[in-house]
Amino acid sequence: MSDQLQPETLALHTGIHRSQFKEHSEAMYLTSSFVFDNAAQAAARFMGQEPGNIYSRFTNPTVTAFEERLAALEGAETCIATSSGMSAILACVMGLLSAGDHIVASRSLFGATVNLFNTILKRFNVDTTFVSATDVNAWQAAIQPNTKLFFLETPSNPLTEISDIAALAAVAKKSGIRLAVDNCFCTPILQKPLELGADIVIHSATKYLDGQGRILGGAVLGSRELLMDGGIYGFLRTAGPTMSAFNAWVVLKGLETLKIRMQAHSESALQMAQWLESQPNVQRVYYPGLASHPQYALAKQQQKTGGGIVTFEVKGGREAAWRVIDASRLISITANLGDAKSTLTHPATTTHARISQEARDAAGISEGMLRIAVGLEAVQDLQADLVRGL
Ligand SMILES: Cc1ncc(COP(=O)(O)O)c(C=O)c1O
Repeated sequence: MSDQLQPETLALHTGIHRSQFKEHSEAMYLTSSFVFDNAAQAAARFMGQEPGNIYSRFTNPTVTAFEERLAALEGAETCIATSSGMSAILACVMGLLSAGDHIVASRSLFGATVNLFNTILKRFNVDTTFVSATDVNAWQAAIQPNTKLFFLETPSNPLTEISDIAALAAVAKKSGIRLAVDNCFCTPILQKPLELGADIVIHSATKYLDGQGRILGGAVLGSRELLMDGGIYGFLRTAGPTMSAFNAWVVLKGLETLKIRMQAHSESALQMAQWLESQPNVQRVYYPGLASHPQYALAKQQQKTGGGIVTFEVKGGREAAWRVIDASRLISITANLGDAKSTLTHPATTTHARISQEARDAAGISEGMLRIAVGLEAVQDLQADLVRGL
């Protein structure tokens, strides 16, 4: 499929391999394995001498369709789908790093990513230095002779801090370090990290790519050389954190509406952010589309809109924040984001509860902070829901 096509067209027409039945909507191939014509063909497939499906831990046509579609949207040569966003991050680090290697990572990462780097990888002698998401010099200063990977999320979860992808890619390249960007909050509709110089894009497909909170999934994207020869595909094939055909089908269809959803999420989120800024009991609003955001200029240049996530701090700490949550009737009290239904989260006691208080303080996650993933409801209904608790 031509990469001259616009994203909304690519999202509908890439990755289509019709069966003999000529179905219009993509078929779902729910099968563990595939049948060979004879023993020689089986041997040739296993040896990689003949293309074709073998076993759904590492080859499945529905999963391939999703991988092709997302790769087209991100402008990536290759995409490897995984069972969740966390397994995409795991596949990335297990594929690229060895014991004794070092990571420089943003201090403003999803809590489970911090835990993976800080506790699990540490047991395998891979150390991580956490630095400010926004201070390029700090990344440069943290480089060690054994640093192999820069890892960041932008906008970050939950503070919506913006990292300068192009500047960090330049720093990384000079030292032969790979830059991986978790593009979960923006999706390729709003931001394309590979075009800005990143080597790897990570997704939790659980979020906006699905868009209706139905499945768990993830993806790693980048060059063929890095993903296929660099060990990431090898890790997935051997260890098996694979995306299921069912989940691949759901998210493949989710991608078809990604552009109009991201536009709608962004428009409503901007209205919500502006409205929250005017509320007397709101201390501060964090949204990249607001002129008051510290990296507003960079966000404008790097991403198309501010996205769908608005974080805000209420006066009165945890008690006041929980009051807002408990007073809501429409907005779901849940940890997910990127759903058509708006979701409201208290990061300090949920998504970021298992990291240390010290790490929470360093990331700026306060007790009065709330994160709303603005869905597709009418904005006035969301405001009416929040105003009760505010
Ligand atoms: C930015 C970000 N990256 C990764 C993940 C992990 O994704 P998953 O829950 O699909 O494993 C999340 C989950 O909330 C996230 O917010």
